[in-house]
Amino acid sequence: MAAKSPLVNVMERAARKAGRRLIRDFGEVEQLQVSPKGPGDFVTAADLKAEDILREDLGRARPDFGFLMEERGEVPGRDASQRWIVDPLDGTVNFLHGIPRFCISIAVEQATTSAGRERREIIAGLVYNPITDESYWADKNQGAYLNDRRMRVSGRRRMDEALIGIGFPPPGTDDLDAFLARTRSLMARAGGLRRFGSAALDLAYVAAGRFEGYWQDGLGPWDVAAGLILVREAGGFVSDSRGGGDIMGSGSIVAGNALLHGELLAILEASAFAGP
Ligand code: IPD
Ligand code: CA
Ligand code: CA
Repeated sequence: MAAKSPLVNVMERAARKAGRRLIRDFGEVEQLQVSPKGPGDFVTAADLKAEDILREDLGRARPDFGFLMEERGEVPGRDASQRWIVDPLDGTVNFLHGIPRFCISIAVEQATTSAGRERREIIAGLVYNPITDESYWADKNQGAYLNDRRMRVSGRRRMDEALIGIGFPPPGTDDLDAFLARTRSLMARAGGLRRFGSAALDLAYVAAGRFEGYWQDGLGPWDVAAGLILVREAGGFVSDSRGGGDIMGSGSIVAGNALLHGELLAILEASAFAGP
């Protein structure tokens, strides 16, 4: 039976509350699709409302923690060693178009200093899908869970049978050629690719063994903070796209089961400068 830490309990309670609000607003968004103005402003307001709920609930439970929130940015806490990293709505474009595929992502980052050097690491994370009521969560060294069930990354070992999630670069990127070259190589080698539009949920899918891997560049720390501990605690590997550990700083992530992570990295590396 899964024993959630107090931090996970706090995150889950807050995410369920914000999730109820998102579901109500999502119902409204579906109606607004037909209006000439579209639901753009309404979605921006929904996003901010969800973030406010999370900030209030998380802040009440741990008044000393700081925040790094996608919408309202950084809020330093009295305790400089702990902060919440929050994406109140990951998959905004899906939400905006009435596509029921989005989530809330919350993580706790802890800073420790040893030999004069500061080290930051994610010690707990939660990705909550309010549509399916799926709560993916992990505490450091305690495993990863989907609701009450232990999650493990998939055991598939062949790239030609692997399903790999990807994310597109932001519109207007000057790296489009490199992205296309890498995607082309992946298409030739992997069993299949998916682009679902919620990085946090995609990472949760790797942890749950649904995807064998995931790759995206150009992400914010709030997109990956919770997902990366889910994958690690489910027995998978996570790195930046050069194979290093600077995921949050570089904004690039390659996640995979232990058998295919290296091969995924090698494919991306080999094709990075190949051109389309
Ligand atoms: C986005 C989603 C998307 C990814 C983008 C992110 P948002 O987050 O995670 O899947 O491709 O890079 O910005 O804007 O929906 O919170
Ligand atoms: Ca996001
Ligand atoms: Ca967001």
